[in-house]
Amino acid sequence: MDHTEPAGAGDTLQDFGPVPAGWVWGTATAAHQIEGGNVGNDWWDWEHTPGSGTRESSGDACDSWHRWFEDLELVKAMGLDAYRFSLEWSRIEPAEGEFSIAALEHYRAILLAAHELGLRASVTLHHFTTPRWMAAQGGWSNPLVVERFQRFADIAAQHLGDQIDMAATLNEPNVVAHAGYIGGQFPPGRPHDWEGFRQASRHLLLGHLAAREALRAGPGDFPVGLTLALPDTVLHADGDLTSPGERVTDLSPDGPRGELGWLTAGQYLDAARDDDYVGVQTYFTEHVGPDGAELPLPSGERVTQMGWPFTPEALGASVRVAAEVARVPVIVTENGVAAAEDAERIEYYSRSLRSLRAAMDDGVDVRGFFAWSLLDNFEWALGFEPTFGLVEVDPVSFARTPKPSAAWLGGLARASRGAHV
Ligand code: GAL
Repeated sequence: MDHTEPAGAGDTLQDFGPVPAGWVWGTATAAHQIEGGNVGNDWWDWEHTPGSGTRESSGDACDSWHRWFEDLELVKAMGLDAYRFSLEWSRIEPAEGEFSIAALEHYRAILLAAHELGLRASVTLHHFTTPRWMAAQGGWSNPLVVERFQRFADIAAQHLGDQIDMAATLNEPNVVAHAGYIGGQFPPGRPHDWEGFRQASRHLLLGHLAAREALRAGPGDFPVGLTLALPDTVLHADGDLTSPGERVTDLSPDGPRGELGWLTAGQYLDAARDDDYVGVQTYFTEHVGPDGAELPLPSGERVTQMGWPFTPEALGASVRVAAEVARVPVIVTENGVAAAEDAERIEYYSRSLRSLRAAMDDGVDVRGFFAWSLLDNFEWALGFEPTFGLVEVDPVSFARTPKPSAAWLGGLARASRGAHV
């Protein structure tokens, strides 16, 4: 595979090298995964639906609804310069057309405090969760969602826009549609519902465009984009995973992945041409056969706690593809690994960042890197078992303890900050 640099524990990255002016080193979270008590959305219902396959309830999560200032202080103490978090739509609009000033003020307080600490704030409007009242009307498969999401984006922009440094309309709309209507692991849990998948994919795209317009029209002047789950995809036309294969870069409907490639990646990257950046979220390399279906991993392959192949160099490959198709600057809005051993996290980031560096050295315009995640948190259908955090969270006391990877990543950020190109 191109750009593969196998690294052992001794290969810990100490120097990322110069970064462009304006670059951000950050870490990311999402409301439902950390706040706790998000009882008004479709995920809460899904967690409590027998047979949904979700391991446990998000419950109090990391109690960040109350401990958000401590979270900001952790980011600051680590030495990073930005915090990515999401607004919980169901808290801001708990009933259709009924908006909570108190919830908006809560998020405004986070933005103001971030700035007081000298952190930049990246806000995501929708990170997987949809209010119960919208889900009850068909959620993203109902065209009405476009207008409702735009209205929410408009309210958020009016109330918070002057304090936002960077915004994403939707987090991984491709996962929302695919896991909701093809895989069935996410609400509404309708596996193999291709019609639902097509409708949701269309409304998510339109929702992005509508929310982008609302954010741009409101106060403040900040980059607006969306984030995409973008695995590095290698196609083996012979169906043999051990053959060299070919990286999939054509995500058009006529490309090797056909309609699926278009609806899960191509259509969004295409729309991103009119965005200010594209958010790339890469965790692994996937291998697909001639029919586009994923080839099973050989036994003995090194995997993460998620069961995903341990392939950090996927990041460099996917930012190249995203930049080539979208033709706008790339921000790595998520990258990381679920690992019980923190040394594995340092190895993972060392290797993913080397592959990112190589892409940048080849001319790819990358503007920042957000580690997923600040905290060990609620990992959706898999509950609290997979640990992606730079910081450990005690499930009972909610005490936060930074892991060695936090100090290491902060050190890397500090060193590179002094070396702008
Ligand atoms: C992304 C998602 C995050 C987090 C991460 C690790 O798809 O945006 O919320 O769960 O994956 O699985």
